[in-house]
Amino acid sequence: MRKQFDIPLFKVFMPPRERLLPALEQVLYSGQISEGEPVLQFERRFGSLVGSGNVLSFYSGTAALHAALVLAGVQPGDEVISTAMTAEPSNMAILHAGAKVVWADIDPANGNIDPLAIGRCISPATRAILVVHYGGVPAPLAAIRALAAADDIVVIEDAAHALGARYAGAPIGSHGDYVMFSLQAIKHMTTVDGGMLACNMQNADAILAAGRKFRWFGIDRAAPRTEVDVASVGYKYHMNNVTATIGLTQLDFIRPVIDRHIANGRYFDTHLSGITDLQTCVFEAVAEPSYWFYTVLVENREGFIRHLAEHGIASSMAHKRNDWHSVFSDSRTELPGLDQFYSRMIHIPCGWWVGDAEREYMVDVIRAGW
Ligand SMILES: Cc1ncc(COP(=O)(O)O)c(C=O)c1O
Repeated sequence: MRKQFDIPLFKVFMPPRERLLPALEQVLYSGQISEGEPVLQFERRFGSLVGSGNVLSFYSGTAALHAALVLAGVQPGDEVISTAMTAEPSNMAILHAGAKVVWADIDPANGNIDPLAIGRCISPATRAILVVHYGGVPAPLAAIRALAAADDIVVIEDAAHALGARYAGAPIGSHGDYVMFSLQAIKHMTTVDGGMLACNMQNADAILAAGRKFRWFGIDRAAPRTEVDVASVGYKYHMNNVTATIGLTQLDFIRPVIDRHIANGRYFDTHLSGITDLQTCVFEAVAEPSYWFYTVLVENREGFIRHLAEHGIASSMAHKRNDWHSVFSDSRTELPGLDQFYSRMIHIPCGWWVGDAEREYMVDVIRAGW
């Protein structure tokens, strides 16, 4: 079979220039480029996309996660249960908050944190559980939230890969107390960099007010600068009007982009099943992934990667298991589910740039064997 396409694993989606550039020009020369009305408008409109009425913006997803941990009351010395199968920032944010990472094992069928393993990790020092929807496949939220509620532990969702995913019929972003989205360059939707935090708890107004201070040196921006008292540590974590303007324009175009990720993922779920030496991910029936990339588990991974590369199809493991980093060495433990997943997993392209012809070609190339 000869090479027909070059298909990258990630590709940045930008709105048409005739829509984006005038909007950017307008904001750049408006005299107001820091946090202002476009940021507030973007928070509201992004909230509609993810089913939350209370969204705070940040300059990155990592900053949003740091904020979530602190707002949830995580303090130095507390334990936060997390997954090692993620990008480093998920767990780096726990260190930013001064807490200790406790690894829970993952489900080797899909890479997501395993509720049974979480149950085994809970201790009197557990303050929060960080749940990553890996690759855009929703983690088993019902079981995790039931466990957390029984012990009065906060659940923080890292939905950096999961914009547009749904769980039990409702969008990811509408379920948990804190749900973080990343708008970094290669995510479903980008503002170049940015992070959003949906806050769905009962006392959301107080949390939002505290979050606004947290992202701006501990200062209430609405109050006269010389009259505020800074009573808590804050950071320079806010989003600005320029990136928010990119976000506002992205929102006009993003639905079909996400829908194409989902259509491709479902296509692969069907057409990559029943192949010897390859398994697709298995997940709950109530989980509707948004397939940031598509994960398969293969025998002879090196051969698989080489075979795809020869046919112009990019593939990658994308992430190093975080428990192997020395910065997390205090947290080391046995993780047999992760061992199993990590030895076979590989990610292939699935996004908006994969058209009908490309996805059929990808299936043919894989079915031809490696
Ligand atoms: C799972 C996960 N969590 C957190 C982040 C951090 O997001 P950001 O790069 O916006 O800080 C990323 C991506 O970079 C990620 O992939």
